[in-house]
Amino acid sequence: MKLGVNIDHIAVLREARKVNDPDPLDALGILKIAGADQVTIHLREDRRHICDEDALRIVQRSRLPVNLECSTQSDIIDIICRLKPHRATLVPEKREEVTTEGGLDIVKYEKSVRSAIERLHAHEIEVSLFIDPDMESIAAADSLDVEWIELHTGTYANIYAMLFSQLDRSHHSIKELELPRSTLKTKLDESLSALESAAEHASSRGLKVAAGHGLNYENVEAIANIEAIEELNIGQSIIARSIYTGLERAIKDMKALLG
Ligand code: PXP
Repeated sequence: MKLGVNIDHIAVLREARKVNDPDPLDALGILKIAGADQVTIHLREDRRHICDEDALRIVQRSRLPVNLECSTQSDIIDIICRLKPHRATLVPEKREEVTTEGGLDIVKYEKSVRSAIERLHAHEIEVSLFIDPDMESIAAADSLDVEWIELHTGTYANIYAMLFSQLDRSHHSIKELELPRSTLKTKLDESLSALESAAEHASSRGLKVAAGHGLNYENVEAIANIEAIEELNIGQSIIARSIYTGLERAIKDMKALLG
């Protein structure tokens, strides 16, 4: 199982003080030494963490393939086409969200998704679509000319956190928190089966399958066991652990769980 390490949160820490430190570029050598397979960054429309200059330096200097997450907005796609990362992952974006909240609705936004794919391919950038694990989204992705899909694991991760109390309840008004444990367990099994079926179906249609969002050292193993998934993109949990263990150890610990 390949591991893409999302280093956005290094830039989050820098932006907290609006200084030059820590520099996400410094992570690249450590990612390589620790056995990461890819560096993942998200150039958000509001540039709340990774900025254009970071993206440019990371694409220019990384010895690992760079997976650049972005929205389908035309001026962002212009930038990605100029940067020419190895891969662009198209994600939905809302200014007010804390983090990406779900998969991209490629049925509703087909026109802009199709246009972004064509432009990225014209610049020899492979394309991935970040989508929810349902059959309608897989069928829609299959009808578009993309190399990869990335399945959104956020629902699975949220239910896992509710069941095993990783969620700080004071910060959430999620109605499912009121559900009995047995119902949450059933929902967890359902979310895993949805990911498994979606991954298998996409893979049988010739799409390469990645997954990510909300994965951590406790919940990752069940996802890593899904054979049709080739790659996981993980950020928050690795960067959080790295504060205490160092980045190299945090990546190696995650890699060990992926098998
Ligand atoms: N994959 C995609 C498409 C994402 O948008 C994100 C969050 O930026 C991740 C993976 C990583 O999520 P997390 O930081 O929760 O591990």
